[in-house]
Amino acid sequence: MAENHTTNSETTVPYSTGDSKITDTTVAELREIAARYPEARSALLPMLHLVQSVEGRITPEGIEVCAELLGQTGAEVSAVATFYTMYKRRPVGEYHVGVCTNTLCAVMGGDLIFDRLKQHLDVGNDETTEDGKITLEHLECNAACDYAPVMMVNWEFFDDMTPESATQLVDDLRDGTEVKSPRGATICTWREAERVLAGFPDGRADEGPTGGKATLAGLRLARERNWSAPDSSATPKEG
Ligand code: FES
Repeated sequence: MAENHTTNSETTVPYSTGDSKITDTTVAELREIAARYPEARSALLPMLHLVQSVEGRITPEGIEVCAELLGQTGAEVSAVATFYTMYKRRPVGEYHVGVCTNTLCAVMGGDLIFDRLKQHLDVGNDETTEDGKITLEHLECNAACDYAPVMMVNWEFFDDMTPESATQLVDDLRDGTEVKSPRGATICTWREAERVLAGFPDGRADEGPTGGKATLAGLRLARERNWSAPDSSATPKEG
């Protein structure tokens, strides 16, 4: 049950205008995250993920409670929350679907996939379908160029995509069909994934393979050809 305020030993801070989902349990968990770091302010990023898992986005109430707990100003917290693209000011749907449209993915079909999904879902960039299921966003290099074009669902990879496999993927998500990342876990909801990013594991981190063929190609070649890394201790020192 949401309270309309939180307290610490010295202050009472209103953080909810009525529809905030931040509860006393949330505040306790935010404190728990802050306590994990020698400098509490280092906890801000995972704390903001926890806010998203509860609120579905970064809300003014979420900013206020993080600021209070960390002894920062709302402006300081807001500056961080608006800098990183993983923090959302608009409500995110049940699944966040990202399409990489950076250079390599774009030329390998990412632009085509993004256009097809916009049409198929009848949404624009950073918009959510009417049923609240899918938020579509174009992403810039996901550091998975060896699998271009790639997509992500709630930050889990989907490799070597095509317009057809992309539409099948979002249809499966909307239908409630179980979806597994080819290099990660079974897809949960965006809010559940945000809770994991906040540092509350769901026990599924080791589900599925973590490295695929393209990632391991260099290792395979090195083994076949008996290559090894140069001995760095034998490198002559400069100067
Ligand atoms: S360009 Fe898409 S992952 Fe790098």
